[in-house]
Amino acid sequence: MHLVFISLILFFSCQSALAEGSGIDVNAVRSEFIQPVPYAPGPDDGKASLGETLFHETRLSSDNKISCASCHELDSGGVDGLVRSIGVGGVEGDINAPTVFNAGLNYSQFWDGRADTLEEQINGPINNPKVMASNWPDVIAQLKSDPGYVGEFNAIYNDGITADNVRNAIATFERSLNVVDSRFDQFLRGDKEAISKDELKGYELFKSYGCVACHQGQNVGGNMFQKFGIMDDYFADRSAVTRVDFGRFNVSGDEIDRHVFKVPSLRLAVLTAPYFHDGSAETLDEAINVMARYQLGRHILDEDVELIIKFLGTLVGNYKGKPLRE
Ligand code: HEC
Ligand code: HEC
Repeated sequence: MHLVFISLILFFSCQSALAEGSGIDVNAVRSEFIQPVPYAPGPDDGKASLGETLFHETRLSSDNKISCASCHELDSGGVDGLVRSIGVGGVEGDINAPTVFNAGLNYSQFWDGRADTLEEQINGPINNPKVMASNWPDVIAQLKSDPGYVGEFNAIYNDGITADNVRNAIATFERSLNVVDSRFDQFLRGDKEAISKDELKGYELFKSYGCVACHQGQNVGGNMFQKFGIMDDYFADRSAVTRVDFGRFNVSGDEIDRHVFKVPSLRLAVLTAPYFHDGSAETLDEAINVMARYQLGRHILDEDVELIIKFLGTLVGNYKGKPLRE
């Protein structure tokens, strides 16, 4: 908690130094706060395309109806658009689905960061009774009964179909899901005309209000943990607290981690409503007002919220050469 205050104070003092003189210093911004999404890794011996098939494979779930793509729809921003995801048997899960796009840029996976890698993350949905409700022996048996998969795995992996290889193929595919060349990234790379005056104003507000203290780096998030409710008690105000609201406390058992979450990426925020781990904010407007109150302890003018949303719109880039859309 104190660390957060200190970093915010440090941040604001840097900000004022930056703001003195002739407006924003694009070079400082480029090196300090947000960086372009890197291009996805190159050729991988067919692992990514096998992973793409597996990502859409409903036989990874116990009722053969749910694939990863059921909740992470690649033509809908990598999310399902629900407050909480619906898994096997129509059961509602506990938490909102984040996008899989750019997930490889996050320094850990899940809202509470309980998986260190994309490979490790995959054990979660496979085994979770409210998600795919399966297990590795069943998944392996299903895939081995399909000669197509046997051939494809054997062509790529010495030991054929194994849980490790399924995880490796899917994670390799996920690492290809970088959404690149957004207008903001073009701006960062030096094209000053890539974003409009209003969008630039939105970016300045994003910095001056202090959003960038937490939402920063290549993914404009995904590189630190922070408490949800620093300046005011979000959970007391929302009520009906459940286990998932404890955040990293569930991972560490440490009181200091109660209600601490991985700061989510805002790269695709304009496409991924509803917002927050509890899916409680229907619109970006609402989410930004919640952030202002509970993370920054201040009120944001309506017109500033609009400008920040315009800035967030510049963060969406291309996947497979085409702009991502809702
Ligand atoms: C029933 C819906 C559902 C299915 C099916 C599903 N997911 Fe998810 N996914 C979620 C939810 C909900 C979360 C957030 C869970 C949490 O943080 O506790 C999540 C989190 C993730 C994350 C973490 C992203 C981040 O930024 O933290 C990745 C990566 C991911 N899923 C990939 C997959 C893959 C790969 C599969 C298939 C093996 C899959 N998901 C299947 C709903 C689903
Ligand atoms: C002190 C750190 C911090 C600051 C400052 C901060 N945020 Fe956040 N932000 C978070 C955390 C943590 C979450 C995840 C909360 C949750 O759902 O558990 C979040 C979530 C969000 C989300 C929802 C994303 C999603 O996909 O669900 C949006 C949008 C957002 N922040 C925008 C902003 C804006 C705009 C500002 C500035 C006005 C801001 N944030 C300031 C830490 C911060």
